[in-house]
This record gives sequence, structure tokens and C-alpha cells, in this order.
Amino acid sequence: MDRQKKRVVLRAVNSMSSLSTNVEQKGVQGMRAVNSLCSISSELDDSDLLALLLDRPRVKLERNNSYDEKSFNDLSLYDSAHSLDGRSGWETPVFSMNPHPMVTEAWEALRRSQVYFRGQPVGTIAAYDHASEEVLNYDQVFVRDFVPSALAFLMNGEPEIVKNFLLKTLHIQGQDKRIDRFKLGDGAMPASFKVLHNPIKKTDTIIADFGESAIGRVAPVDSGFWWIILLRAYTKSTGDHSLAERPECQKGMKLILSLCLSEGFDTFPTLLCADGCSMIDRRMGVYGYPIEIQALFFMALRSALSMLKQDTEGKEFMDKIVKRLHAMSFHMRSYFWLDFQQLNDIYRYKTEEYSHTAVNKFNVIPDSIPDWLLDFMPLRGGYFVGNVSPAHMDFRWFALGNCIAVLASLATQEQSMAIMDLIEARWEELVGEMPLKICYPAMESHEWRIVTGSDPKNIRWSYHNGGSWPVLLWLLTAASIKTGRPQIARRAIDLAEARLLKDGWPEYYDGKSGRFIGKQARKFQTWSIAGYLVAKMMMDDPTHVGMISMEEEKHMKPVLNRSSSWT
Ligand code: GLC
Repeated sequence: MDRQKKRVVLRAVNSMSSLSTNVEQKGVQGMRAVNSLCSISSELDDSDLLALLLDRPRVKLERNNSYDEKSFNDLSLYDSAHSLDGRSGWETPVFSMNPHPMVTEAWEALRRSQVYFRGQPVGTIAAYDHASEEVLNYDQVFVRDFVPSALAFLMNGEPEIVKNFLLKTLHIQGQDKRIDRFKLGDGAMPASFKVLHNPIKKTDTIIADFGESAIGRVAPVDSGFWWIILLRAYTKSTGDHSLAERPECQKGMKLILSLCLSEGFDTFPTLLCADGCSMIDRRMGVYGYPIEIQALFFMALRSALSMLKQDTEGKEFMDKIVKRLHAMSFHMRSYFWLDFQQLNDIYRYKTEEYSHTAVNKFNVIPDSIPDWLLDFMPLRGGYFVGNVSPAHMDFRWFALGNCIAVLASLATQEQSMAIMDLIEARWEELVGEMPLKICYPAMESHEWRIVTGSDPKNIRWSYHNGGSWPVLLWLLTAASIKTGRPQIARRAIDLAEARLLKDGWPEYYDGKSGRFIGKQARKFQTWSIAGYLVAKMMMDDPTHVGMISMEEEKHMKPVLNRSSSWT
């Protein structure tokens, strides 16, 4: 960097530090004032700006050094020069001068969705849709749905609601949990809860759902993982370690960990699950070892590792976690990874191989490769497949699992880049007119009948069956920033901005390219609103990604003996 540039950078840094002391000050419409850098940013080139952004300490985050990784190491931007159009994506001003009008509307809608318990905000309801005839359970606070709301509040310097939520759900975890005559594990976290206000007695009570009321009686395996991940995000964002260190939080974490680290009949380090146990909470053929759960499991383990106290019991858990992470990263990076080379290997697999020398370890029958995949797989790019178990590879692409794999560094740096390459190469299919497909492709006809049990809500290209979910925008944005490819996020945000507000923040869109508001989609779906806000705030201040992202651990670096898209 030449001297002139250095001076400019210095000015920017100074301006940032004065800015960061005002972190608590909220600008108009509840947004932080972050605009003072606009004029400076235009004087710098992309690489200067990136270096600056990544070096920039935020006041609140500086205190987190005792954790396993430093906040800013979390933001690893691999190759900022890499992009479709040859531009880094940071050329457009990083700090937007005038917030998009949608941002104001989104904050208002998000605030309307807040739920109070005895006067304290404890979460946000799933959807604030008065027009909808059936409320079902959309008036409840869902654990997974609250995550983007929580991140939005944290990024906006409002941690209180997040702390209340974490403590409230922890309290709920301690309840006696039964389905009919069967008692659930102590660590199980609820899928959702509802606050009942009694205006006469002036009392508030909470009823929780662990799956005993949910449609299909599905257990939310993801809830406990999201809870741990959110506790880390809260700690990273506020620098307040005291919450995670509380005995009840330590206990809650250990109860969740006990559920998934217990020994059993497993031959794989991945977690065996029933269908409908996560965001896709209906029968969709994701039973077994779904990528969404494996990626969240991995991220939760790494989060817990950074927060567990090093007492005798804590150390035992940490020991188990390290072993599991090690085994999982090898398993996932080797067997769930699919790229052109790997697909070609499977295409030529021999079957019925016995003993440890087998190449086709899971006895995948080449004929089970679906036709769509042969055209879909680009020469450059790759992804973690949906599921791997004996003689079964679910070749579908799932958004959440792949983005979380990037953020948690379950994917190697090269694999992360390949995941983003694939999204760019298959933009029409995966993003189309509304980010982002929950999975690709949809199941139709006979397959749909068999796999979903003829579910009318999950017809082809709708809802969980290839529908497009605006909430996934925040995950795509975070992964894009982490991999140094913000232009991907920018393109996706532009698409969302063209429609989301006008359409009333739908829960999901239907159709091959996500053109239609979903058949039974709620309007004013809170996580569509919060997901948009989080995406915007991360683009404005990429250091926010550190709350939800993790650097690769050196000891987890794999010795890959299989194909990879980067060779
Ligand atoms: C749907 C989604 C689920 C979400 C819930 C509330 O059931 O599949 O992931 O948590 O709605 O929004």
C-alpha cells in the first residue's frame, strides 16, 4: 500500500474507532449510524477496504480473546478477486449512505412481532399475519425462527431480548417433557413456545411444544444446536461472558451435548435423525444423516467448545467434543462431498466390495445417480450432498446445511469456495427470481407420493419441496462474505428487494424459479423480515459475520485422498 493510501486508511481507521465508541447509539429507525465512511471508501481500492474491514476491532468484540478464536480471525476472506464478473463486489460502497426504505419497514415489522413475558421481550412470533385464516402455531416463538431476529437485535446493539430468550428457553428445557407415556431426554429443547396472557388474573404463562403438539409430532433436533450457537453469538457480540458462564447455562449446554454425544450402535460420527427434525419439519425423505443437522451439530460442538468451563466435567465434555469434531470433519469432507470428479468416480463405482479396502464404502449403486445431477454438476464447484448412509446417497442440494458448513468451517476453504462456485454456476436453478431454494431439485409424481406420503403442502417446487425461502438470504450473505464473495450476496439482496416488501414478506415462494408467492405461505413471516435485515447489516458491516462464523482449526485439516474440485 503506498503512503497516500496509508494515510487514507489511517483516516478511515480513526473515523471507525470514533464510530465504534458510539456503537450503542441507535440511528433513526433503530439503525446504527455507520455512514461516515462513505467518502473515504471511495478513495480506497477493494483490497485496502477488505484489509481495513478485517483489521477493524469493534469495541465490544475486543474482550473476547479468551475464546478459541479471535473475532476477526473468524472473518476469513479467501480470495476477494474471485468473482463471476471479475469484480470483487466491494466496489459498490460498503457502507450505504441512505438505508433502503425496506430496512425501515422491516424494523417496524420486526418490532411488532416481539413477544413479552411479564413485561420483558422474550422472542418474536413466527408470523404476524392477520389476514391468514389458520393461525396453527405461527403465533408461537420458534427457536430456529428466532435466530435471525436475535442476530438482527444483536447487530443493532439490543442484546436484552436475546438474553431473555436464552434464559427462558433454558428454563423450558428443565420441564418434564412427555409425549403420551414416553418421557423425552432431559436435554431436549422446545421447537416453540407460546406466552398466554390472562388479562383478568394479569398473569403470563408459557406453554412449550417439544414435538408433542407439532404437526406430525416431530422432534426439533436443531433447537438445542441453535440454542448453543446463539449463546456464542450473544457472547461474541456483547463480550458478556457471564451469561455463558452461569451454572444453569453450562448445565443446559451439557444436557444438549449428552443427548448427541452418547455412545450407541453408530458406525458413523454423524447424528442419526428422524424425518422432519429441523427447518424441514415434515416428511421429506431427510431421515438418516441429513446435512442440515450434521452442519448444525458441528457448529454447535465448536461453539460449546469455546464456552465450556474447564472444570473436571467440562474437560470430559471437551475431550469428547474434540474427538467427535475430528471424526466428523473427516467423514463429512470425504463422504458427503460431491464434485464433478467425485461424481465421475461414483458413476464408475464397483459394487459389492467387501473389507476395508473397499472404494465404494457405502455400496452406493451407480444406477441410483439421478439423471438431473449429470447435467446439474458443473465442472467447477461442489457441495455436501443431503444424506449418506448404507446404499443411500441423497444427491439433493440443501441450502442451509451447505451455508452452515461454510460458516462453521466444516467445509475446507477449498470446499467453501467450491460451494460458492456452484451457487454462481447454477444461479438460475438455486436462486432464480427469489433467494434461496431450500433444496434442489423438487420431487415430483411417483417419487413425491412415496417420499412425502403425498403431502399436498409439499408439492413440487413449493414449500419444503424446492420452494424458495427468503430467510435463507442471511445465510447466503454470511457465507458469501466469509468466502470473500460479497457480490453473490449483493445480487441476491437486489432480487429480494425487488419483491419482499411489495409481497408482504412471504414465508416462501413457489415455482421453479421462485416467481410465485407460496401457495400457503404466511405473510409477515418474521424470519423473512429478520433474515433480510441481518443480510443488510452484514453487508454494511462485515465484521458482524464473526458472530456466526468460525475459522478452520489447524488440527482438523484433512488429508484428502479423494477427488476434489480444486485439483
Ligand atoms: C414451518 C417451517 C419451520 C418453521 C415454522 C415456523 O413449519 O417448516 O421450519 O420453524 O414453519 O415458521
